[in-house]
Amino acid sequence: MGSGLTGVFDSGLGGLTVAGRILSELPELPLLYFGDTAHCPYGNRTADEVCALIDSIVAYLVGEGVEAVVMACNTSSALAYARVTSWCPVPVIGIIEPAARAAGALTRNGKIGLIANPLTARSGAYERALAPAVVELRRPEPRELEPRIFPVGCPKLVPLVEAGQVNTSEAREALEEYLGPLREEGVDTLILGCTHYPFFCPLIREFMPGVTIVDPAEYALEELRKLGLKGVDLPVHRFEVSANPAEFEKTGTRLLGRRLSGVRQVELISRRASAAS
Ligand code: DGL
Repeated sequence: MGSGLTGVFDSGLGGLTVAGRILSELPELPLLYFGDTAHCPYGNRTADEVCALIDSIVAYLVGEGVEAVVMACNTSSALAYARVTSWCPVPVIGIIEPAARAAGALTRNGKIGLIANPLTARSGAYERALAPAVVELRRPEPRELEPRIFPVGCPKLVPLVEAGQVNTSEAREALEEYLGPLREEGVDTLILGCTHYPFFCPLIREFMPGVTIVDPAEYALEELRKLGLKGVDLPVHRFEVSANPAEFEKTGTRLLGRRLSGVRQVELISRRASAAS
């Protein structure tokens, strides 16, 4: 007990934007990162499929001895946060609620853009998470404009990141398609509702000048810090995936700007199947 081993997971490379922050801000914590590359992207799957995958991943991380789980994945947080916290024996950090609250506090004109994969965008999770923040914002000085979220589903973005294409003409075209309507709507705040998207930050800033960018990873990191996990002097990090470890290692190293070595492929046992047998 007391190693501070922290589980972080995503469908693929996106969670590295969260892991990167943990590695630099809480460097004493050893990380066990799992990228479910065999099933990426989650955004094009059904909610039931994604929930079953998440149960298996979290069960695996807990079995490996993690002391906390960071859902470095908006889709997982949107669809399965409540469900996972109901059975998981260690603290689970979701990525949506603190970011929605922050966006509510940051907007000046009440217009908050949300870019996310289609499943997260349709889930209404950010809108639900923002609702209590709106009530809080009305006190003590009522605001004239109540914050409202404008969601845009962006199916092309995750495959571009997984292919390492974060600054190509395809990336520009896709971002223009998704951000153009939000620019016209006049949003003053933009939530990056998928952990893959911070890799597009330079382009996003170019397309949305003057707009406040909310990266939920920043707020998830604060939640993790609050747990006060102790960590160790020389932490050893593990990076694991469900498919294509060499590709993950190569593209992840490039995108993260930090060498990921020894990425391993592991096969997860379906939690539902194992519970039934
Ligand atoms: N990066 C994940 C998220 O934050 C999953 C994206 C996907 O696989 O569609 O939602």
